[in-house]
Amino acid sequence: MKPQGIPPNTTINQTKMSFRGKNAVVTGGAGGIGLQVSKQLLSAGAAKVAIIDLQDNLEEFVKLRAAHPTQSVMIIKMDVANKKGVEATFEEIAKTFGNIDIVVNVAGIFNDKDVQRTLLVNLGGIINSTLSALPYMGKDNGGKGGIVVNMSSVVGLDPMFIIPVYGATKAGIINFTRCLANEKYYQRSGIKFVTVCPGATMTDMFTNFTEKIIFPETSDETYRILDRLNKQSAADVSRCILNVLEKDKNGAVYVIEGKRVYPLEMKPQWTGKEQAL
Ligand SMILES: NC(=O)c1ccc[n+]([C@@H]2O[C@H](COP(=O)([O-])OP(=O)(O)OC[C@H]3O[C@@H](n4cnc5c(N)ncnc54)[C@H](O)[C@@H]3O)[C@@H](O)[C@H]2O)c1
Repeated sequence: MKPQGIPPNTTINQTKMSFRGKNAVVTGGAGGIGLQVSKQLLSAGAAKVAIIDLQDNLEEFVKLRAAHPTQSVMIIKMDVANKKGVEATFEEIAKTFGNIDIVVNVAGIFNDKDVQRTLLVNLGGIINSTLSALPYMGKDNGGKGGIVVNMSSVVGLDPMFIIPVYGATKAGIINFTRCLANEKYYQRSGIKFVTVCPGATMTDMFTNFTEKIIFPETSDETYRILDRLNKQSAADVSRCILNVLEKDKNGAVYVIEGKRVYPLEMKPQWTGKEQAL
């Protein structure tokens, strides 16, 4: 699962108009990367965007609606760890929107000291949201097909000692998403699944970082690492996510770092695996 180097032509392209008329759902869309994804999808012409988030960001939501008066922006306050609540939320969105074309699952937390919550939000939340969307997207169920993008991280690929719990949830997301990107399932459902793995990004996520790590003795070293990291902005990451949506490649896993996006070559390790599985 090593990056194959950054090909010279992978700099982000100007977003094309392929989002025009599409209906999208963004979890974690009230802040950080998710808010940028919601904004950029609307700017790129999405017809309807539903934001699922725990927090209210009224100021931003008012601005978003004002900037896109002819498009629909639906805000739902919901914890992605709440399976029944997320199912009901997707039912409500599908009823209001008619169909769902794009789901970008961004919601996530960092708190390695709260293992249960980290598992339930980061991994559980992605699973809840993805599985809840399928009945409304699948052609096998009257939908039009579409694409689900799940948010992992570079630390889901490369182990990082100081954040093992967070890293484990991000590794799980890659496997979950790649499992669903199955050719036979795609043939009947028309749904594609993609994973994105950003590097360090300037958001609120790592506020009070050293209070949330399980090895406090690594604090000094951690600060040095954080300082050295070449951080990108949430808007940069979001542009790469829209670029990935345009690429529309089932099963792809992308790294997003330094404002650039590039695919990973995922080679099978298990030689005995039946190809038909
Ligand atoms: N910031 C980084 O360096 C970085 C790098 C790689 C991946 N990521 C991932 O990107 C995603 C977004 O992170 P960010 O940096 O924008 O953080 P952020 O804290 O700025 O935004 C996260 C958003 O998710 C929402 N959220 C949190 N828990 C939720 C829950 N239980 N239910 C619904 N919404 C919830 C928050 O309210 C917030 O709006 C996360 O999954 C994170 O793991 C971040």
